[in-house]
Amino acid sequence: METVTKEIFQDICTKDVEKLSLQDRKWLMEWECAPEYHSFQGYEGILEWFQWQRVDKNFLPQEMVEPLAQLSQKRNTEIVSRAFPDTEYTFAHVDHYNASDFIFQNFYPLPERMRVRKVLDFGAGYGRQLNLWSQKVSDLNYVAVEGIERSYCLQNFYYSHFELPLNEYMIAPDDFYVTEAHGVFHLPTWRTDLIPDNHFDLILCVQVLLEINTDLVSHMIQEFDRVIRPGGAIYIRDHAHHWDACNDVDIPAELLSRGFQLEFSPPYRDTRDPQVQSGKQEADLHGLPRIWRKL
Ligand SMILES: C[S@@+](CC[C@H](N)C(=O)[O-])C[C@H]1O[C@@H](n2cnc3c(N)ncnc32)[C@H](O)[C@@H]1O
Repeated sequence: METVTKEIFQDICTKDVEKLSLQDRKWLMEWECAPEYHSFQGYEGILEWFQWQRVDKNFLPQEMVEPLAQLSQKRNTEIVSRAFPDTEYTFAHVDHYNASDFIFQNFYPLPERMRVRKVLDFGAGYGRQLNLWSQKVSDLNYVAVEGIERSYCLQNFYYSHFELPLNEYMIAPDDFYVTEAHGVFHLPTWRTDLIPDNHFDLILCVQVLLEINTDLVSHMIQEFDRVIRPGGAIYIRDHAHHWDACNDVDIPAELLSRGFQLEFSPPYRDTRDPQVQSGKQEADLHGLPRIWRKL
């Protein structure tokens, strides 16, 4: 399949702004906290992203983390050696972070009727969470929603290295819609109307909700409420109240008002906790995992 280039992304954006009258909703296309990372400068950007994720603090037992981290690392090593033959893979911290997310997302047993098969990754970075989900769920239906050129092009590049059917909005916008089929569906933030109601078992928001603007957080929570199935969950992992958010939405209050219930929120100590920052305490984790369920 054709790869999404900077030119393709910009061309579709321009057409969509016109076609969908998005002039007054440009906030859908903004990364409030990090405007300097909007522009795509080449696929090596993925190696840069691997570097950023060096903070890999977690207290989880080795025997839980290692099997998953090794699975993730095997796939990432294959991708890096295929795409960048001169680069040695030295990014095991990325695989440990993937493993810790996957463990928290699947921490306790759920009955078969609550099995997770349909996953939405909102603000997916370079797409890292497909790695373990695709290897652990054989009939996975994985949807990634992204609004930023750089991240979007890197996600398309990363996803194209997996053996799953890749349905890409930017390549065939007029034929695109999210179905129940096994595979990856990749679309921009301003086209979540192409996702059916009550679709997802699990929505992933890792280090994203605090980084986007007020209009977008409110809009996405409304969309999450529409596209999640009854009994489905939202996994949020970020620095919570230890981070100076780029928006003023009270996310817990918004979720509660829409009938979500906080199901998992352990009192782990985050790397951004003032006690940790001042050197008085050790951190348990980088980013606090929480699970909200729609009942
Ligand atoms: C700190 S990164 C986290 C990436 C990813 N969730 C992870 O854990 O690796 C924030 C992500 O939010 C995305 N983002 C920023 N503005 C967005 C928008 N308007 N729509 C969708 N995603 C956005 C960024 O492009 C980036 O992928």
